[in-house]
Amino acid sequence: MVGRELELAQAEAAIAAARNADSSLVIHLSGEAGIGKSRLAREILRWAAGAGATTVEIGFDAFSPGERHPAQRLVAQLPQPPMPGPRATAVERAVLSWLVEPQIGADAMLRMSALDPDVQQRLIIELLADSLRQAAVETGGLLVLIEDCHWSPVGASDFLLGLMSGLQDSPVILLLTERPHDGSLDQRLAARARSGVVRIALPPLPETAARDLVRAIAPG
Ligand SMILES: Nc1ncnc2c1ncn2[C@@H]1O[C@H](COP(=O)(O)OP(=O)(O)O)[C@@H](O)[C@H]1O
Ligand SMILES: [Mg+2]
Repeated sequence: MVGRELELAQAEAAIAAARNADSSLVIHLSGEAGIGKSRLAREILRWAAGAGATTVEIGFDAFSPGERHPAQRLVAQLPQPPMPGPRATAVERAVLSWLVEPQIGADAMLRMSALDPDVQQRLIIELLADSLRQAAVETGGLLVLIEDCHWSPVGASDFLLGLMSGLQDSPVILLLTERPHDGSLDQRLAARARSGVVRIALPPLPETAARDLVRAIAPG
């Protein structure tokens, strides 16, 4: 990777501090298309994995609105599928099986669809946050990358903000990438005064670094 030493060091320091304190962290990487968000995110993931953390990642794009729910896509990557606790209610068990199983049973489906949409969303966030916290505690920490949040379908940004509140007291590191736009997650997070947010705005590479990049791609 050419340049970005400062941004990488900033992310690494924030992650190291959060890991030491067992606290939550949200890193928001913002920048225009093609500026290098994914490249830097990849580098941060590699560093965190080297420091012993488990990493999982999902992304949004413009073309696949019919994909599985982001919560299902995240849970599918956890090293251990979450299990219901001994005191879980029937509804919690139904939501958990929806989260974990590609094909949900008829009974769980009935219970899910009987729920008010707000209650359903709240339960999904609660159980997902629990699953992520548990994975963070049982492994050497957890870093969750969510790419291209500007493409998140209607309602998904409320889901992401809800998840961030749900993880406020958990040692889970969230890394988000997003193009700047009105109502972007970092603006909405700032308005909510959530603590433990590091915002990194990627400027274009400085001229010398850009020259190095061109030389690396097309020597001579
Ligand atoms: N700092 C960098 N060093 C080397 N290659 C880079 C760097 N930043 C971006 N690139 C390359 O430029 C292209 C666009 O970067 P990408 O990270 O995909 O942008 P974004 O995710 O912001 O749209 C990719 O091919 C990527 O590998
Ligand atoms: Mg990208």
